[in-house]
Amino acid sequence: MSVKALKGFKDIIPGEVETWQLIEQTARSIFHRFDLAEIKVPILEKTDLFVRSIGETTDIVEKEMYTFIDRNGSSLTMRPEGTAPVLRAYIENGLHAAKAVQKLYTIGPMFRHERPQKGRLRQFHQMSVEVLGSDHPRIDTEIMAMAWLIIKELGLTASLEINSLGCPGCRPDFNKALLDFLHQADNLCDDCLRRRETNPLRVLDCKSTGCREQYKEAPSILDYLCSGCREHFQQVEEGLDLLAVPYTVNSFMVRGLDYYTRTTFELVTDALGAQSAIGAGGRYDGLVKQLGGPDVPGIGFAMGMERLALLLEQQQKGAPAAGLDIFIVALGNAAQQKGFTLTHALRKAGLTATMDYQDRALKNQMKQAGKARARYVLIMGDEELNKKEAMLRNMENSEQAPLAVNDDMQGWAAELAGKII
Ligand code: HAM
Repeated sequence: MSVKALKGFKDIIPGEVETWQLIEQTARSIFHRFDLAEIKVPILEKTDLFVRSIGETTDIVEKEMYTFIDRNGSSLTMRPEGTAPVLRAYIENGLHAAKAVQKLYTIGPMFRHERPQKGRLRQFHQMSVEVLGSDHPRIDTEIMAMAWLIIKELGLTASLEINSLGCPGCRPDFNKALLDFLHQADNLCDDCLRRRETNPLRVLDCKSTGCREQYKEAPSILDYLCSGCREHFQQVEEGLDLLAVPYTVNSFMVRGLDYYTRTTFELVTDALGAQSAIGAGGRYDGLVKQLGGPDVPGIGFAMGMERLALLLEQQQKGAPAAGLDIFIVALGNAAQQKGFTLTHALRKAGLTATMDYQDRALKNQMKQAGKARARYVLIMGDEELNKKEAMLRNMENSEQAPLAVNDDMQGWAAELAGKII
């Protein structure tokens, strides 16, 4: 029996990968326009990093992490998200000293042991942004506008929902009001009953419809914000209006990670069933300090690449597979050898070129060139070679014309490039 991939782990094969490349190229282009620098961080980290940042009583830490003891007896975790590793790298490499405001992005796989379904995998990919060193509300607006631009340039539609989770100054007042409400509510699920005692805010993230129905009556965090948080949120809203980024306020959005303060946001769609969030993020002003770094504020977001790819496919906006500039059809030994050296010379000259080594008949090779979506085909047989003549065929309009064979391969490749590019 052949060995299969793990449940929730997916190959991205040719035909699909072009859509992924489109997503990544679009995002990279936008990240650079916003003056972000790329950072690459390891996939494996000490477990403690995630427990301390995401929070001990979150779903991710309680149920979803790929954690194991390595050969040295250390507890390691495959990163379930990118914020904690990027912040660790920021602190460890002294990036705060290099630049007052660091704007970073990273792209790569994350791992969560969730129940796989459409748009939800165990290995998934995020494109994430972390901006460290500024608590200005315009930064919040800027990064939401950046996420919005990615959606727009990909030609997708989504809605932006925003909220404020307050700060350590005002959150306790809200927690108290929420706790009072939760003690009066009945029929809470077991998870909510437990979380009511450990981390009341988390209950608002419950997926059970019974609980959700009751929470419609829960107090709104926006009514408990201190004046600083209220003003910050107001300026974020004004900023979004200035940049004409449409949004709605959703005061029940609490996010699944504990590190957030003040602004939080999600980009949601109703086109993917249960997995509605295609991107999400928020401010985490105390987190760098909590992880042992300087007291600098931060904000970021991550977009799920599987979900973006699904949306693009659904809307048939996937990128077409790349074609070839030229396919070399060589018939006979001498022609095969010339074709082989010419193909290499063409590649050196910057063209996408290939040929067939199986010595197939002309018809089959032409079929192959068509399948590979070659724009041109160069046909050479031993007989034609003797006459120093090959045939160049334009596959788009089926016109063909003889082409003199040049024995200087690189010269011939340059000549061909001039003709077909
Ligand atoms: P998150 O909400 O856990 O936030 O994930 C962000 C996005 O990753 C989600 O909106 C979704 O598109 C995608 N995603 C999450 N889990 C899965 C999964 N199992 N399968 C497919 N896609 C998934 C974070 O991870 C934060 N680190 C975001 C952030 C950055 N906040 C501040 N900076």
